[in-house]
Amino acid sequence: MLKIAVMVSGGGTNLQALIDAERRGELKNGELSAVISSNADAYALERANRAFIPSYVLRRRDFDSTDAYGDALAEMLGQLDIGLVVLAGFMTVLSPDFCRRFEGRIINIHPSLIPSFCGPSFYGLHVHEAALAKGVKVTGATVHFVSEVVDGGAIILQKAVEVREGDTPEVLQKRVMQEAEWKLLPRAVSLFCEGRLKIEGEKVHIIE
Ligand code: GAR
Repeated sequence: MLKIAVMVSGGGTNLQALIDAERRGELKNGELSAVISSNADAYALERANRAFIPSYVLRRRDFDSTDAYGDALAEMLGQLDIGLVVLAGFMTVLSPDFCRRFEGRIINIHPSLIPSFCGPSFYGLHVHEAALAKGVKVTGATVHFVSEVVDGGAIILQKAVEVREGDTPEVLQKRVMQEAEWKLLPRAVSLFCEGRLKIEGEKVHIIE
């Protein structure tokens, strides 16, 4: 079994989707082994406790630099023997050094169809505000490998979601989560743990 650490900062509905998928036997060859939060008050920690997954808090503000934060995180992941790091609503940008050390072993879920509405200023509800302001008719979610470039790593899975007349950012966020994020993330994690993702340059191939 590959040990998985899920990194969170807030509500943790994507963490919940992973917990539910594991219970249904849908995370093949993977085991949710740790939840690491950048925020001590994150509701995601409650979800981890209820699922009996060991949880840890690592706050960016307790470290002098992004590099020091990355070093502490790398140390923790090493001690826990983690094989896959999943960023599931994790709102702290990781250092380039950390991203290099864990290259090909960190995946992230982003609530848009990358390369639209992504990069350093696009996170959480802001992504949906920007999509509505632009008037796009279709948005969605993307699961990708994490590289040094924010939201710039190789794309694993994407799913489109319709934008409807009268949508608010909150309504659109919920639809993107329900129709795309909560399905894509467990699927991508399982594919990774089964060894079915092959990175070739900028592209990810899914082995049947
Ligand atoms: C999700 O929509 C996730 O895609 C997004 O934050 C939300 C977290 O919700 N992540 C980003 O914007 C990362 N750039 P959750 O805590 O309920 O899973």
